[in-house]
Amino acid sequence: MSQAVTNNLEAFWMPFTANRQFKKNPRMLVGAKDMHYTAADGRQILDGTAGLWCCNAGHGRPKVVEAIQKQAAELDYAPAFQMGHPKAFELAARLSAMMPKPLDHVFFTNSGSESVETALKTAIAYHRAKGNAAKTRLIGRQRGYHGVNFGGISVGGISGNRKMFGSLLTGVDHIRDTHDIERNAFTRGQPEHGAEFADDLLNVIKLHDASTIAAVIVEPMAGSTGVLIPPKGYLERLRKICDDNDILLIFDEVITGFGRLGSAFAVDHFGVVPDMVTTAKGLTSGTVPMGAVFVSSSIYEAFMQGPEHMIEFFHGYTYSGHPLACAAALGTLDTYEDEGLMTRGAELADHWADALHSLKDHPHVIDIRNMGLIGAVELEPIAGEPTKRAFSAFLKAFEEGLMIRTTGDIIALSPPLIISRAQIDEVFGILGKVLKAID
Ligand SMILES: Cc1ncc(COP(=O)(O)O)c(C=O)c1O
Repeated sequence: MSQAVTNNLEAFWMPFTANRQFKKNPRMLVGAKDMHYTAADGRQILDGTAGLWCCNAGHGRPKVVEAIQKQAAELDYAPAFQMGHPKAFELAARLSAMMPKPLDHVFFTNSGSESVETALKTAIAYHRAKGNAAKTRLIGRQRGYHGVNFGGISVGGISGNRKMFGSLLTGVDHIRDTHDIERNAFTRGQPEHGAEFADDLLNVIKLHDASTIAAVIVEPMAGSTGVLIPPKGYLERLRKICDDNDILLIFDEVITGFGRLGSAFAVDHFGVVPDMVTTAKGLTSGTVPMGAVFVSSSIYEAFMQGPEHMIEFFHGYTYSGHPLACAAALGTLDTYEDEGLMTRGAELADHWADALHSLKDHPHVIDIRNMGLIGAVELEPIAGEPTKRAFSAFLKAFEEGLMIRTTGDIIALSPPLIISRAQIDEVFGILGKVLKAID
């Protein structure tokens, strides 16, 4: 007889979760449709976070569901190496048409973390292919989040994600983050102060010399660390310094991609075009794991040399461009297009910002930040117990029928792009009540 016990919570080691707390008092989700989850006790939970910043089209959307069902019956899997299937090419062509030139080639992965590893490896290999094999250093930013693989945590800047994992990659350095609450608290949209933080890159170049640096990777808007909006002029300055020094600029758009800021990509929103863009999450609206790395044509072309029968880039995943993921992504892009979701964040941005900033005088609030359909409420930490106050808010919000996300003592909100104005008011009505209720 099987030793397994149905619904024994012990065996599953849950990722990025307080396992013991959860297993004593589980928050189980059993269904989802449009803007709501259904909890195990039957309650409807308003989704204030698009799952984990990913279900941008909402839940259970017909075109996505049908595409996945149909694909599973038609072609379940095709080898990703030395073979192809039509939907991978169709998807890559459609994605490249969404991006400004010259970002017109797409490499498929299965997650944001894999997209980051792919971009970092591509950067180093690109310079080598161009005859600059000494350009290997990778520069990240403090408080950056680039997933959990070794490259990503090495360039990442969140100490909790790094400190347990040894010496990480060598040849990595960091510039400062852009959070400046003294000068910029309660700014709507891009803060005025802080473009000069980009000049940190000049110091790093002075230290290591540009001839050793392959790439700089930043989130155009830092999400997971608690929504840090780039100061006016900052990204432009980073771009210029990279251009002046033959350093590739990588934007990690795993969160900002696919409509979050009110345009398809942050690249459009800020009008700054990097050399590579990493994406995942909203690509399939969270339904099937998939990531995509956009690279410029000059990067792609740098690899297209040597005998034609030779593999040009020794990198890829068994599931790169998986048929189910491609079908899900195509169904998702159709849904985004049909419903105008790539620009809906811009239409709702003012209503969203008004509702969010109405929490300014609520207890514990020390800063509020917003852009497109993303928002953050930073709370004063309880002395000696960092993260506890925001975690209480998370638990209380779930009790009240709202899913929020917390990181440190920051509450982050990023609802599906189909949210209505009335539902925005509901989100902040509940959140206001929660802030008044917690210690
Ligand atoms: C900017 C950024 N990069 C990478 C990742 C990692 O993505 P995944 O969890 O799909 O590996 C995330 C996840 O939140 C992210 O926000």
